[in-house]
Amino acid sequence: MSSQLDIRHQQSLRGLNTFGTDVKAALYLRVAALDDLRAVRADPFLSKQKHLVLGGGSNLLLTRDVDGLVLHMSNTGIAVTGEDEHYVYVTAQAGENWHALVQWTLVHGYPGLENLSLIPGSVGAAPIQNIGAYGVELSDVFHSLKAFDFATGDVISLAKADCQFAYRESIFKQALRERTVILEVTCALPKRWRPNIRYAELAAELEAWGVSQPLPTDISEAVITIRRRKLPDPEKIGNAGSFFKNPVVSRDEHARLLAAYPQLISYPQADGTVKLAAGWLIDQCGWKGKSLGRAAVHDRQALVLVNLGGASGAQLLELATLIQCNVRERFGVSLEPEPVIL
Ligand code: EPU
Repeated sequence: MSSQLDIRHQQSLRGLNTFGTDVKAALYLRVAALDDLRAVRADPFLSKQKHLVLGGGSNLLLTRDVDGLVLHMSNTGIAVTGEDEHYVYVTAQAGENWHALVQWTLVHGYPGLENLSLIPGSVGAAPIQNIGAYGVELSDVFHSLKAFDFATGDVISLAKADCQFAYRESIFKQALRERTVILEVTCALPKRWRPNIRYAELAAELEAWGVSQPLPTDISEAVITIRRRKLPDPEKIGNAGSFFKNPVVSRDEHARLLAAYPQLISYPQADGTVKLAAGWLIDQCGWKGKSLGRAAVHDRQALVLVNLGGASGAQLLELATLIQCNVRERFGVSLEPEPVIL
């Protein structure tokens, strides 16, 4: 095994996943720079191990010990790396905290990320599930990224179109899964900024504050206020944000559901399909605030599962499965988990 790398054995991952489940990694490495990844690839033993790339651990449910090598990205740095007539390009290293990047852009006068305030997790994880909230997805502001390709040993650049972004989806969950490690992300922030307050709850919050022409910082503060009101703080109570994706159904399926449930909350999509509010479906089944041992459904947002302290990953998964079965029985709708489950 390479002598330069500080590989740790049987490392607890409890403090490194926001659900706080108590599992161990057989092998663990903090990755501070590209050279660490090159050294892993060059090492005959390490290169054969299964790799789990860990960012902020906020979109992950660990149900058992990880028997391969955990690569914990901790490379840092944020800088303006270019500009043209329309955009300022800001590049952040994968190990940066996402919200710290949002704050950095606002402090330096480059708005565009404010709707994505306070999303837990790291910059490197953001493209994997194309993070989104309050009317904006990463893909709206994404320009390009650099990643290490374990298959070839090269650093590759991917433009927006290469990443195959969709709702909580990207190529990194599909063809490039377990092959690449994201090193840095570049966002294109518009020089002619306009507020995006299409999300009804965000507009209502600003209106309640008497703000009719919001600044980027107003939007950020409103998003932070709403998130704090509805979502549990992972520092205090273990969770991974929304546990399920909002399911997308056909127009016919939507019509069937709406006839049976006139209160159904749904969002028509550009392609004719309809997205349903999974939180509402789960709430209707009576799960809000319910628990199974130390695993529970958050009492203010039924889409969020929480660890009340000491829940195992298996217990959280069991609760998720019960919810899926219940929603399928009642509404005939399948819920797909949002976090990676291991
Ligand atoms: N609702 C209920 N009961 C609940 C939860 C929600 O009736 O227990 C209703 C709400 O009243 C609302 C609708 O369902 O009418 C949607 O709820 P909300 O606005 O809270 O948003 P969401 O669809 O549940 C999505 C994202 C969140 C993101 C918010 C805001 C997904 C899976 N989740 O949640 O993202 O913050 O919109 O944009 O798309 C995450 O991905 O981890 C996440 C937190």
